[in-house]
Amino acid sequence: MIVLGIESSCDETGIALFDSEKGLLAHILHSQVELHAEYGGVVPELASRDHIRYLVPLLEQILQQANIEKSMIDGIAYTAGPGLIGALMSGASVGRSLAWALGIPAVEVHHMEGHLLAPMLEENPPAFPFVALLVSGGHTLLAYVKGIGQYELLGQSLDDAAGEAFDKTAKLLGLGYPGGPALAAMAENGEQGVYKFPRPMVDRPGLDFSFSGLKTFALNTMQSEAKKSSLEGELSMQTKADISLAFEEAVVDTLKIKCRRALEQQHCSRLVIAGGVGANKRLRAALGEMVEQLAGNLYYPRIEFCTDNGAMIAQAGCLRLVAGERQPLEIDARARWSMQELSAI
Ligand code: KG4
Ligand code: ZN
Repeated sequence: MIVLGIESSCDETGIALFDSEKGLLAHILHSQVELHAEYGGVVPELASRDHIRYLVPLLEQILQQANIEKSMIDGIAYTAGPGLIGALMSGASVGRSLAWALGIPAVEVHHMEGHLLAPMLEENPPAFPFVALLVSGGHTLLAYVKGIGQYELLGQSLDDAAGEAFDKTAKLLGLGYPGGPALAAMAENGEQGVYKFPRPMVDRPGLDFSFSGLKTFALNTMQSEAKKSSLEGELSMQTKADISLAFEEAVVDTLKIKCRRALEQQHCSRLVIAGGVGANKRLRAALGEMVEQLAGNLYYPRIEFCTDNGAMIAQAGCLRLVAGERQPLEIDARARWSMQELSAI
């Protein structure tokens, strides 16, 4: 079965073709980073308009790239939520109507399920059950994954998502958008031990997270350094790098402590990292080391499949279509959608 996948939940238009037998056939990504950069964050209306502009040309491009006729597509999968409603509606409208026009089934994909199953796009995919750390711009959660659609929530962020904390702290430091990669790059020049940031909620039992305090801690550190600064209240590049490093280490360390706790609690040796923050090299290294100590295995998708992409949506949709899931004709995008509502297949 050949499935066309469409991702348009935020600031990336992703299109992919996934074959149930052969795996991923092709994928294309159009990033809106430049469009939103001057505003320092995603402008929802601009995001929707850009998806509309690119969806059909990208669709034509991928068919050409994979040398596939429209008539060879057996099903269409599109992200139906959670995300920006206008952005979701653009992909959902194109996806649902194209499926109708071609007389083939369509299926709605939960964006986070797409992320969570993304490591299965790689060789050596994880076997069920596994513990998954989902860290993106909108969500931070730990789940025990027993199978597709069987997601037991172990813990989640009570305030900012990890990616959101990266983005907001990067903005405070004047590092631009998207903040995560910019802050990580800045941290490379940081000196270890100059600042010590707290590890929120690690001394309490449980697997919930809280990251908004780290952003405030960064702000307070910046303000007190600015007072001491000889650069008319400006922070030096070195100070920014040192703060970036201390912040990144605090987030990574906190995630590592909670992941270890989750693996031990579930008596599980397989850990999956998914979502945009999963692209963070320090996080991958720290979790790799921790899992090795537990004689377990760590799984993550290649960097381009950590952040939003069409391949993960085509794959998740293909699994659901093969299992017989079908979407009625109405277009039903949702800004909010709990993963617990998903059906097991
Ligand atoms: O999964 P994603 O592409 O979109 C959402 O579904 O939210 O995640 C985007 C988030 C952003 O907050 C971005 O700053 C963060 O992932 N991110 C990173 C890195 N690359 C992307 N955070 C830290 N380090 C990175 N290398
Ligand atoms: Zn995402």
